[in-house]
Amino acid sequence: MHQAEIGPSYMFSGNKLGEEWHRLTAQNEGFKNYLNGKLTLAPLENPRSIIDMGAGTGAWAADAATIYPEAEVLAVDMSPFPDRNFPSNLKYQQFNLLDEFPWRNESFDVIHMRFLMYHIPYGAKFIARVVQLLKPGGFLIIEDSCLLRYPDGIGPAQQKQNEISIAFLHSRGLDPYIGSHLEEFMQATGAFEVISARMEPLCLNPLPTGKFTPSSFRCHL
Ligand SMILES: C[S@@+](CC[C@H](N)C(=O)[O-])C[C@H]1O[C@@H](n2cnc3c(N)ncnc32)[C@H](O)[C@@H]1O
Repeated sequence: MHQAEIGPSYMFSGNKLGEEWHRLTAQNEGFKNYLNGKLTLAPLENPRSIIDMGAGTGAWAADAATIYPEAEVLAVDMSPFPDRNFPSNLKYQQFNLLDEFPWRNESFDVIHMRFLMYHIPYGAKFIARVVQLLKPGGFLIIEDSCLLRYPDGIGPAQQKQNEISIAFLHSRGLDPYIGSHLEEFMQATGAFEVISARMEPLCLNPLPTGKFTPSSFRCHL
């Protein structure tokens, strides 16, 4: 397993890449279960060109490539990709999405990004750039989060951690509540006939069980 450091502008850059892939794999399983094994809730019909931005381990892109064998799927991330077998119609490109895009406008039928926007400053501008890459009639599929909250309220330690996280995100021009702003960003582009948004309370990673001790928490600030 690779143990390279993740790039410094990625929030979880304190992690080793192998550990981050492990976390993302568990998270991907959680998300897949939530979707009952489906790739997406969007009504895709035989897409030919798909890009997954901020692809992480490539798990979503690999599923897309398997489900749509006629499609060319491009997985993009600024970190290296895991060394494993991927479907032959899946290509990987290492690229920082904050740089000028190397793809032509109207290149993709589907643009997917999951838990990427949380790491992207000035989200509205980014979405406006991304939209130009969509073919007419294409789908922009975004799954992202608002800052973690527990349904039963939070204690002082979690409250403190939230405050630290919010201050940290703001210091980097990032939006802790990005998930709740995506619909307005999409509307602002004026590019979409239909925008379908839903917000769900969702726990993707297992919470620690038993007694909480200081070592239950790891912080990567
Ligand atoms: C939370 S992970 C999500 C990975 C994957 N989409 C998933 O759901 O499993 C965010 C990913 O976005 C990538 N990322 C963050 N900022 C990026 C940027 N500016 N350019 C390219 N990739 C970026 C990170 O390297 C990381 O793999």
